[in-house]
Amino acid sequence: MNKQTPRFVVVQDEETVKKLSGLNAAVANMPFDPFYGAQDVIIVLAKKECTYVYDGSLAMGNLMNAAWSMGIDSRWIHRAKEVFDSEEGKQLLNKWGIEEDVEGIGFCILGYAAEEKEKTEIKDGRVFFVS
Ligand SMILES: Cc1cc2nc3c(=O)[nH]c(=O)nc-3n(C[C@H](O)[C@H](O)[C@H](O)COP(=O)(O)O)c2cc1C
Repeated sequence: MNKQTPRFVVVQDEETVKKLSGLNAAVANMPFDPFYGAQDVIIVLAKKECTYVYDGSLAMGNLMNAAWSMGIDSRWIHRAKEVFDSEEGKQLLNKWGIEEDVEGIGFCILGYAAEEKEKTEIKDGRVFFVS
């Protein structure tokens, strides 16, 4: 249907990254930086139409795959919905000129991991071959 519901906000300035991290931490009362010190963040929002949550989620996944293909580490950071449902979040959207009815889908943090993540075991039984 060519709805193109996802919206992307690229944040690279330190002050705004800090502000977003603070708003994110406040949602779940987190005592640490939920962005793990990342300096580059792409916020994915989606205009509330049709399959927008799935659209935005797919955009998040594609961003992460694209980052990986370029040798850049990334992680999906949650609570974008709550951040942009809040008064302060709405003020930011307004400041950025996003006036549509959007929902926060995720924060894609980008950077280089300080240490390599332990390889996780892939669980069996998740794929069903049927006939
Ligand atoms: C919807 C979603 C939200 C996530 N939110 C966070 C988060 O807030 N903080 C975080 O450190 N990782 C977050 N992650 C990453 C997961 O904790 C986990 O590391 C990642 O999904 C790895 O997938 P696995 O569990 O299949 O190994 C999120 C992932 C998804 C898909």
